[in-house]
Amino acid sequence: MKKNSQPGFATRAIHVGQEADEATGAVAPPIYATSTYVQEEIGKHKGYEYARVSNLTRDRLEQNLAALEGGTTAKVFSSGMAAINAIVTTLKAGDHVVCGHNLYGGTPRLFNQVWADFGLDFSYVDTSVPQDVERALKKNTRMVFIETPTNPLMALTDIRAVSAICRKKKVDLVVDNTFMSPYFQQPIALGADMVVHSTTKFLNGHSDGLGGVVVCTRPEQAEKLAFLQKAAGAILSPFECWLILRGVKTLAARMRVHDESGRSVAKFLAGHKKVKKVFYPGLEDHPQHSLAKKQMSGFGAMISFETGSLANANGICP
Ligand SMILES: Cc1ncc(COP(=O)(O)O)c(C=O)c1O
Repeated sequence: MKKNSQPGFATRAIHVGQEADEATGAVAPPIYATSTYVQEEIGKHKGYEYARVSNLTRDRLEQNLAALEGGTTAKVFSSGMAAINAIVTTLKAGDHVVCGHNLYGGTPRLFNQVWADFGLDFSYVDTSVPQDVERALKKNTRMVFIETPTNPLMALTDIRAVSAICRKKKVDLVVDNTFMSPYFQQPIALGADMVVHSTTKFLNGHSDGLGGVVVCTRPEQAEKLAFLQKAAGAILSPFECWLILRGVKTLAARMRVHDESGRSVAKFLAGHKKVKKVFYPGLEDHPQHSLAKKQMSGFGAMISFETGSLANANGICP
């Protein structure tokens, strides 16, 4: 490594927030399983008062994920949905949000069946067409919320183009980066104001815990989200924080294998006579293959495909 050069992704994954324990030298971060902390006298403590507000294992994970996404701060929540819910909670009745029309189903369920009743207004557009995003903006639009690639149709949005529209209108751009992970896509570097993940997927990487994170770029975002951790309490437990800290140590290595497998499975499916259509940005006939090559550094492992009927699909899924 050249002197003064920034540590690379895999190095940050292993070292940021993952420093040896000061008290014992343990190389794995300790799990601080405590609800509260002793105080020398009322109000005099070591920065930790009550575990809903702060926990050292959680702090370590938040530092790590902020470093991997290139954000200033990260705040973790009890699931991906809790993280998305926290973002929406920062809005006010009367605010409008422009969303992608092919988001993970739980996201519009939260927006339409919970938050619409509290006076928030949501419009759904094809965000792969940046002009459609621009046309959907209203005077009261505060946020554009996208997934790229989308779950399940693997459609892409040009983050840089949509970010330029959002900047012009002073609207925040939030990107759900769950499908690519920070290893293959860095939305903040492309102009996003906040990034959200279901850490349940690639970041944890072992299917043994739910979690969510919001990565911020401005101090006021982090302040609001830290307040919501304290006020609403949908925090991530120290054990689950530790599982993700352990999981991200192998993120770079896992994503390379995911990408390799994803490409070969997609190719196999594309050549299968019973498969009608394959949705994978790594295939040359994906309508946004060139955008995928530009804004992602790999294609990942998420693939969807059409079998022609529900009966055929049921026949494939055990
Ligand atoms: C893209 C995306 N965002 C958010 C979520 C919600 O995350 P969680 O299941 O951790 O609440 C999911 C879940 O599948 C997802 O696929």
